[in-house]
Amino acid sequence: MVKSLFASFRHRAPAKSVAFEAKNDAVLIEDAFIIRRNFQEFLRAFSSQKHQNINIAPFKFDSPSPDDLVSTRLHSSKLDSKANFKRLSSLDMSTREREKNILIESELGTEGPNSSSASVARDGGVKERDFASDCGIKPEILVSRMRSVSLSSKSRTGNVNEETGTSNLEYKPEAWMIPDQAEDRLSQLNLAIVGHVDSGKSTLSGRLLHLLGRISQKEMHRHEKEAKQQGKGSFAYAWALDESAEERERGITMTVAVAFFNSRKYHVVLLDSPGHRDFVPNMISGATQADAAILVVDASMGSFEAGLDPIGGQTREHALLIRSFGVDQIIVVVNKMDVVEYSQERFEMVKQKLGTFLRSCGFKDSSVLWVPASSMENQNLVATPDERLFSWFHGPCLLDAIDSLQLPARDYSKPLLMPICDIIKSQSQGQVSTCGKLVTGAIRTGSKVLIMPSREVATIRSLERDSQACKIARSGDNVTVNLQGIENNHVTAGGVLCHPDFPVRVSNHLELKILVLDIKIPILSGSQLELHIHHAKEAATVVKILSLLDPKTGKVTKKSPRCILAKQNAVVEVVLQGSVCVEEYAESRALGRVSLRSSGRTVALGLVTQIMKTQ
Ligand code: GTP
Ligand code: MG
Repeated sequence: MVKSLFASFRHRAPAKSVAFEAKNDAVLIEDAFIIRRNFQEFLRAFSSQKHQNINIAPFKFDSPSPDDLVSTRLHSSKLDSKANFKRLSSLDMSTREREKNILIESELGTEGPNSSSASVARDGGVKERDFASDCGIKPEILVSRMRSVSLSSKSRTGNVNEETGTSNLEYKPEAWMIPDQAEDRLSQLNLAIVGHVDSGKSTLSGRLLHLLGRISQKEMHRHEKEAKQQGKGSFAYAWALDESAEERERGITMTVAVAFFNSRKYHVVLLDSPGHRDFVPNMISGATQADAAILVVDASMGSFEAGLDPIGGQTREHALLIRSFGVDQIIVVVNKMDVVEYSQERFEMVKQKLGTFLRSCGFKDSSVLWVPASSMENQNLVATPDERLFSWFHGPCLLDAIDSLQLPARDYSKPLLMPICDIIKSQSQGQVSTCGKLVTGAIRTGSKVLIMPSREVATIRSLERDSQACKIARSGDNVTVNLQGIENNHVTAGGVLCHPDFPVRVSNHLELKILVLDIKIPILSGSQLELHIHHAKEAATVVKILSLLDPKTGKVTKKSPRCILAKQNAVVEVVLQGSVCVEEYAESRALGRVSLRSSGRTVALGLVTQIMKTQ
């Protein structure tokens, strides 16, 4: 009965058949409460625990995982610049292999403090931090030092203090790095569009862009014609974002598409994520940049429920991932309301069930906005809907909901950190472009940047925002940085652009505090997982399970347990196959959060509590 309902409401054959089981509400809600408690406690009870370094026997990780198989098949491509889209691709793993062999020179103190060479403070920075943690100095001390900065027209560098082992390097942002309040520019809001496969994310994005004049009538006609020719007329708006032949043929998004539009308040960078479970790694890479998210759910019978399924439901997995990336504001678009005849009852049911789950992920009720809509029939996107919705819904339309989001605090006072999401290799010798969001700090044309982990210094030739040249980019901005003076193979997606005197750390041995999700197979010492951190991905082996933690207090409940079960909190050590750019969570949230995946599913979310070995 339920299956037949499900079938009759589908508008196309699902890209991957989704097994739908009628869910017992009570079970779902109870389940949600357990996760809620664990997840919130996990976020709250975060505290660093120090352990001695241990010697790890080398290990092998030869067999490619489903994620590897997916990502190595995908390629980076820059989309039609006229439409101002870029595509974020998955990572090129092979290039990262080379980085493992890079020799770190020890040149501390051999050059003057104002040298543009990265090597001086580069190693200084690394040593400073290692020494600090070896001495048991809490990361908070370093953080507070980083915070206690004052405005000055010049940055300066210093040396390691031999007594304390910490550096007296003090970062001072230059005046141009702090935005001028009077500056007449819309703030950039990075908005990830996430949700279960086929919920209508790309159609919604295409429709918005068309309504806001970002896609011309001519282009839209072309998409309509092409979609019809291939018997996929309903995908016309989605095709504005799903550009590759494979995406169009399969009728699914595979890589994150980036588009831009202006609302009254924001310059919005839209990150349209794939919903299919095989492409979660790409979703992670794109959505990790989000300041806020639109979670699109399909209101139709069966489809909404499939998205919340504990096994393959991407509404569930995406919501958890987004929260773990630090996103705390979310707009839930209950899409395809036309299919359920704009039923208030259905909307309220979706709101009640999904609301319970979102609370369990740590979203506050006051930070969740609910927007019933139909992308297909253009209802409630940029204007007041017609009577079918307006008779019972008087809340904001989607565009107004976007304008009501609050911009997260931007950190201009810390040194530059920009994880590299994608690279565009140039034909010209020594030039390469990198795309990504500045986590902290600022850059401008002519600035020198340190590229990690290759430890090469390059100069910024030019900067682009929304395919338009710009002079300065600051924390929160999503930009393309055109570099010169650097070889292509020294820049990789998953790397980080840094201030030359404040290099990010590079390591393959981490201590993590993790919250294990709904897994069937326990995590053991020796378990092999995939670790995702900003735009990097590495094979990881759990080498030690140090302790289980009480989710409420964060206190150790059991030392050296044999395994970790579903919904438990634990501290583990992992060794990665290759090194990643990483910071402890206490120092940098964006570079200190990880997700762990196995067999195509996210199995745990984590925070980096300690970098065991810096390279
Ligand atoms: P993935 O990126 O593969 O996860 O899919 P998606 O969420 O981007 O969905 P997409 O936009 O590709 O749309 C999937 C199907 O749903 C298409 O056939 C759309 O025409 C249809 N669709 C999207 N929005 C609506 C809507 O509001 N109403 C109806 N009836 N169909 C819709
Ligand atoms: Mg899509």
